[in-house]
Amino acid sequence: MNIDPRPSVIAERLKRVKRVIAVTGWKGGIGKSVTAATLALLLAKKGYKTGLFDLDFAGASGHLVLGAKGLFPKEEKGLEPPVYEGVKFMSVVFFSENKAVPLRGANVSDAIIELLAITQWGELDFLVLDMPPGINDAALDVMRFARGAEVLAVTAPSLLAHDVLERSLELYKKLGVPVLGVLENMSAGTRAKGADAVVRRDPGLERALGRPAALLKTAFAADLARAAAKLGITR
Ligand SMILES: Nc1ncnc2c1ncn2[C@@H]1O[C@H](COP(=O)(O)OP(=O)(O)O)[C@@H](O)[C@H]1O
Ligand SMILES: [Mg+2]
Repeated sequence: MNIDPRPSVIAERLKRVKRVIAVTGWKGGIGKSVTAATLALLLAKKGYKTGLFDLDFAGASGHLVLGAKGLFPKEEKGLEPPVYEGVKFMSVVFFSENKAVPLRGANVSDAIIELLAITQWGELDFLVLDMPPGINDAALDVMRFARGAEVLAVTAPSLLAHDVLERSLELYKKLGVPVLGVLENMSAGTRAKGADAVVRRDPGLERALGRPAALLKTAFAADLARAAAKLGITR
């Protein structure tokens, strides 16, 4: 008999986390990481107990968006994430020393599940997940193991992006994964079909990367705060 203990371990780990928001998208470069990290900063600033978990093995960048350097989790009956700018921050980059990790398929899934199983988040109002792109095994495993996670679907204003988006949303529906809404990022101001909220392209965003205080003052952050309220993440 082969009983996998990890689902129950992960459920136990996430028991005191009120909401898990999985920031997902079907491509790279559409703003998942800036969205996830900035959302975490916004939530922490509003006084919510917040965690950010960068699970993108191929392109971890939460630490770059936040400008978090020299952090490492503490070993304490598992791993305790360091706190940065009021956000409990965990990243696969802590375990990959900033190199592209040559993990494939099941290995990536296994590593992510292992990290979900050993991380001690404690009590949180929100845990924001910066998801690997797409709906590959690793991404689906996260949704399977982090029960109750709600998908925030980031998309870009292109026809192709919307086509993939629609198919992915259908898959989530089939799997019974709740979708909070579709966030169209880098919008030119108009809302495309299927988008529930928009965040405009902000030419000032690049300059603010790595500086949380500056990041929170960008038009990007202001748009995102409005979108978060609209999608029922914040009140
Ligand atoms: N609304 C926006 N306005 C301007 N630049 C943006 C916006 N959203 C994302 N970017 C930029 O696009 C690049 C890719 O974003 P990133 O969050 O790394 O995407 P992903 O995680 O989906 O690969 C980053 O350099 C980021 O600063
Ligand atoms: Mg990313």
